[in-house]
Amino acid sequence: MPEITLIPGDGIGREVLPMTVELLESLDLDLTFFEAEAGDRVKEETGIALPAETLNLVDRSDATLFGAVGQTAAETILTLRQAIDSFVNIRPVCAYPGVNAIRSETELVILRENSEGVYAGRENEVADGVTTLTRVITEDASRRIAEFGFEYANNNDYSNVTIAHKENVMQLTDGLFLDTVERVGEEMGQGYETQLMDALAMHVILHPEEYGVIITPNLAGDMLSDLAAGLVGGLGLLPSANIGPERGLFEPVHGSAPDIAGDGVANPVAMILSAVLMLEYLGYDETGMIIRDAVRTVLGAGPRTPDIGGDASTRDVADAVLEAIERQ
Ligand code: NAI
Ligand code: MG
Repeated sequence: MPEITLIPGDGIGREVLPMTVELLESLDLDLTFFEAEAGDRVKEETGIALPAETLNLVDRSDATLFGAVGQTAAETILTLRQAIDSFVNIRPVCAYPGVNAIRSETELVILRENSEGVYAGRENEVADGVTTLTRVITEDASRRIAEFGFEYANNNDYSNVTIAHKENVMQLTDGLFLDTVERVGEEMGQGYETQLMDALAMHVILHPEEYGVIITPNLAGDMLSDLAAGLVGGLGLLPSANIGPERGLFEPVHGSAPDIAGDGVANPVAMILSAVLMLEYLGYDETGMIIRDAVRTVLGAGPRTPDIGGDASTRDVADAVLEAIERQ
């Protein structure tokens, strides 16, 4: 029986996560849930953003469903990703009928290296007014994401894999990333293209239909996925999965959205689709597909939240998804 840790966090995380859990509970799956705290709220109360009990629970669970946190994002989510030894962050970006997308042809997946790069936490103040950051790229981490990425492309019927890099400037670090990922592609007998990440950012906007799986270093993947979110209707729609060797952590790409927190209008779709990624990871592919279809139906016919042009509440959308599931 899979054990799931639930971390609602802050802001809209506390609105979209509970409704998603209600939806999971209505499906009669044999999941056991444990609730845990992390984020700004618990830090204000206790001085610690990521309590040891939460870390222990995540460490023992098969999967974690994470809402969003605010200012303490680095202390919580980065630590949790490290705790499960997550080497890849999967960020599918998909346009839906009914949602006014800048590029309705978009259907791509960003696979972002999740353990190193400039997010390895090696920042220093070397003198007054002078700061530095060490960018860590290892062959092992590059190989892990490459093997995962080419297999992911195969399993999900993506014919094109693009490797994002900036080897012309960061010759050593991105040289190693690029060489390693290319070598894995060759070993696995799979085709790929390589593209400089700045040019890629422009090309994704102009021709998203030319992309399938994009394998990228950490920071570039973070930026590319928000950029791609803009193409399909914004952060309210984007789920993500952090995958480690034994556990997964599933979270929307968005943060705590303080500008709308408490208003009851956050789009729950990113959170619901993150739960779908979790179900698929745990082997509930059929249920995942049912929820995915229900979300597609609701996005197509409404109700929709204001971020994608509607006037419905979080509750309205969550209820509509539940009804669409029941009708299937
Ligand atoms: P954000 O993702 O919270 O919000 C960006 C914009 O998108 C806002 O206008 C917000 O209202 C809108 N938005 C986001 N999710 C939405 C949803 N589900 N429905 C409708 N509108 C939505 O990013 P921002 O403003 O840069 O950061 C706010 C806080 O969140 C910061 O404290 C930041 O540190 C934190 N953060 C946490 C993350 C995490 O928990 N993984 C990730 C990104 C930011
Ligand atoms: Mg981000």
